[in-house]
Amino acid sequence: MTVKPYKESEDQKKQQVEQMFDNIAHKYDFLNHFLSLGIDKLWRRKAIRMLSVFPHNSILDVATGTGDFAVAATRLSPAKITGFDLSANMIEVGRQKVEKLGLQNIIQFVKGDSENMPFPDASYDSITVGFGVRNFENLEKGLAEFHRVLKKDGVAVILEFSRPRYFPMKQFYNFYFLHILPRVGNKISKDKSAYSYLPESVMAFPDDQDFLGILKKTGFKSATQKRLTFGIATIYLAQK
Ligand SMILES: C[S@@+](CC[C@H](N)C(=O)[O-])C[C@H]1O[C@@H](n2cnc3c(N)ncnc32)[C@H](O)[C@@H]1O
Repeated sequence: MTVKPYKESEDQKKQQVEQMFDNIAHKYDFLNHFLSLGIDKLWRRKAIRMLSVFPHNSILDVATGTGDFAVAATRLSPAKITGFDLSANMIEVGRQKVEKLGLQNIIQFVKGDSENMPFPDASYDSITVGFGVRNFENLEKGLAEFHRVLKKDGVAVILEFSRPRYFPMKQFYNFYFLHILPRVGNKISKDKSAYSYLPESVMAFPDDQDFLGILKKTGFKSATQKRLTFGIATIYLAQK
């Protein structure tokens, strides 16, 4: 089942996702760190540490949004990072952030659709994606594109929400995610659906072995995972 942000709209998921992120771009960073109590930063850092043992001279940060994963990846001192995203407004916030940090010589932004990327085959050492794949209209097409643009043996590090399995975290998470987060998020972002779409899309998205199975099916020779913070999020590592 495809979960879309705006139920009353007939538009495709992709257009709706672009519109939603354009709408919330200026509140995105604040809400991200506020609603996750800052844990999202630690998750990205952990993912970057996992990438450090693989080639990472050229990094493609897919669904870069406001560029937080791309900025975190500069710790690895790559020659270049491309931040790629569908939403012009998210990219604009990211571009300003990168300029403020003086990282514009390393991080470049490109607008486009991750299911059809404008990059040649085998053009990047590694890919990072933070909270992006869940928003794709066609997940397998997007993952196949990751595989195509990666060099041989290159890795994709995919950070995404998952679902805790055990009591009491499972119950606490469901209560917070389904009841508190949508109310606070929709109100602050002034978008009536964005933070209802977040838990709904997480609940419907494949995690754990299901997601690893999809990565293998897409052509990656290996796919492993590290569950984080009782399984609220997971880092998937897939090698071409
Ligand atoms: C939740 S934000 C994540 C931003 C950032 N990676 C982070 O870690 O905070 C998801 C981003 O995915 C982008 N996105 C969704 N579908 C996309 C697609 N098909 N192609 C490119 N970007 C996409 C959205 O525009 C949005 O900026």
